[in-house]
Amino acid sequence: MKKNIVLGITGASGSIYAVRLLEVVIAAGYDVHLSITPSAKLVLKQELELSVDLEAFKPSSLLLGDGIDTSDSKLSMMRQSAGISSGDSNVLSFEGGEPGVIHYHHHQDMTASIASGSFLTAGMVICPCSTGTLASVVNALSTNLIQRAAQVHLKERRKLIVVPRETPLSVPQIESMLRAAQAGMVVLPASPGFYHGVKTIQDRVDFVVARICDQLGIEHGLIRRWGT
Ligand SMILES: Cc1cc2nc3c(=O)[nH]c(=O)nc-3n(C[C@H](O)[C@H](O)[C@H](O)COP(=O)(O)O)c2cc1C
Repeated sequence: MKKNIVLGITGASGSIYAVRLLEVVIAAGYDVHLSITPSAKLVLKQELELSVDLEAFKPSSLLLGDGIDTSDSKLSMMRQSAGISSGDSNVLSFEGGEPGVIHYHHHQDMTASIASGSFLTAGMVICPCSTGTLASVVNALSTNLIQRAAQVHLKERRKLIVVPRETPLSVPQIESMLRAAQAGMVVLPASPGFYHGVKTIQDRVDFVVARICDQLGIEHGLIRRWGT
């Protein structure tokens, strides 16, 4: 049985991290339970020119698999400049097995599997995580499915990784991050390093995605590790 990873995409800048993470996790053979907030839809359009229909979601609107015409999207241009073509699997040193499947859940569907602790997962990532969603999660709110799934992961003592992106930070936002860490979340800011031979935007994106995969225990060959 394939392992399930929950991915919540919220309306912080850095939607490319989510798109890349999704393709890496799927390619590594995990099923991804995906939910997207309305604000994230706006950011995906603004940053990557991706049009995502939250009511009738199509995986192809986020994944750049073979046969999908992405010739005029910013993401495609970024990938080309990074030397990565659609479906390229430099991404992965994963061997064997079928790629995973995307299970989409509407952000208001509280009947979704991931709203219950009885549905087993190998962890959850909120990427990027808006400061608004982070504040909601540390205050135990469940006003949408992503927040509810986050509460489930906390109460079940499962891995919950939040990838906030904001700058500069206010005191309440810093306090949210502190409280997130105290509650057991992994606070993994979208803050790429520059020491691993960075040349392209994709290198920076992969730096962050690699750290998320490390936290999830997903094998990858995204970056050269320090000391190797
Ligand atoms: C283009 C764009 C970029 C944004 N970037 C950020 C950001 O980097 N960090 C953040 O916390 N909010 C950012 N926001 C604001 C959030 O989208 C907003 O607070 C929203 O209410 C978050 O809702 P959500 O958490 O339900 O997705 C951005 C909004 C837009 C339209």
